[in-house]
Amino acid sequence: MTKKLFIVFEGIDSSGKTTQAELLKKYFLELKERAVISPEPSNGIIGNLIRQALKQRIIFSKDQDLFDEQMAYLFAADRHDHLYNDIDGVFKLIKNNYHVISTRYYFSSLAYNCDSIEQYNFIKKLNDSFPNPDLTIYIDIPIEVSLARLQERSLQEIYETKTKLTKVREQYQKIFAEYEGRAIAIDGTQDMQEIQRQIIDAVKTILTIQ
Ligand code: TMP
Repeated sequence: MTKKLFIVFEGIDSSGKTTQAELLKKYFLELKERAVISPEPSNGIIGNLIRQALKQRIIFSKDQDLFDEQMAYLFAADRHDHLYNDIDGVFKLIKNNYHVISTRYYFSSLAYNCDSIEQYNFIKKLNDSFPNPDLTIYIDIPIEVSLARLQERSLQEIYETKTKLTKVREQYQKIFAEYEGRAIAIDGTQDMQEIQRQIIDAVKTILTIQ
C-alpha cells in the first residue's frame, strides 16, 4: 500500500459514521498502515466554537437566516483549517503517511445549511475550492431510525429535529445522485459487519486502481 487516502463519511445524525470510521481505522492499523480519524467540525479553535453554537451556548443572531449564514462561514473556515493547518491538517497528515478518515466534510454544509436554492448556491460557492476526497462513504438510514438512536443520547443539538433531518436526508440523496467524484452509498440499517465489508471492498478497489 503506498498512496495514503483521504476518506470521508457522510450521513444524517446517528447513521453510524463514527462506528464505521473507527472500524476502518482498525482495518488500516491491522495492515500496519498509519491512520487517523479527524472529524468536522474539527478539533481546532473554529470547530470548538461551532460546537458551542450547535449547543446554543453561543447565539450569533436571533434571526435564523443570519445565524445560518454565520454558521456556513464558520463551517467553511473550519474546513480550511482542518485541511491546511500545519500541525494536524489533513494534507500534513497525508504527507506524513497517514490515511485520514473524516467524519463529515463539505457535503454536510450542502445537506444541513441550505433551505433554499439561493442558500445552496451561496454554500456551494463558499466550498468550491475544497478538493474532493479520494472516497466518500454515504451511510443512509431512515429518519425514524436516526430519531430512535438520538433519543438514547442525552444532549440535543440544534439540527436534530424530525423536520430538519428529513430535509437533510433529501438533500444528501440529491447531492450523491449528482456527485461526480468517487462515492458509495450504503444502507445503514444493515448489520455492522456487512457495512464494514462493503466499505473495505470500496477501499481495496481504490487502492488497486491508484
Ligand atoms: P456531528 O453530530 O457529526 O458531530 O456533527 C455536528 C453537527 O454539525 C451535525 O448536526 C451536522 C452539523 N454540520 C453542519 O451543519 N454543517 C457542516 O458543514 C458540518 C461539517 C456539520
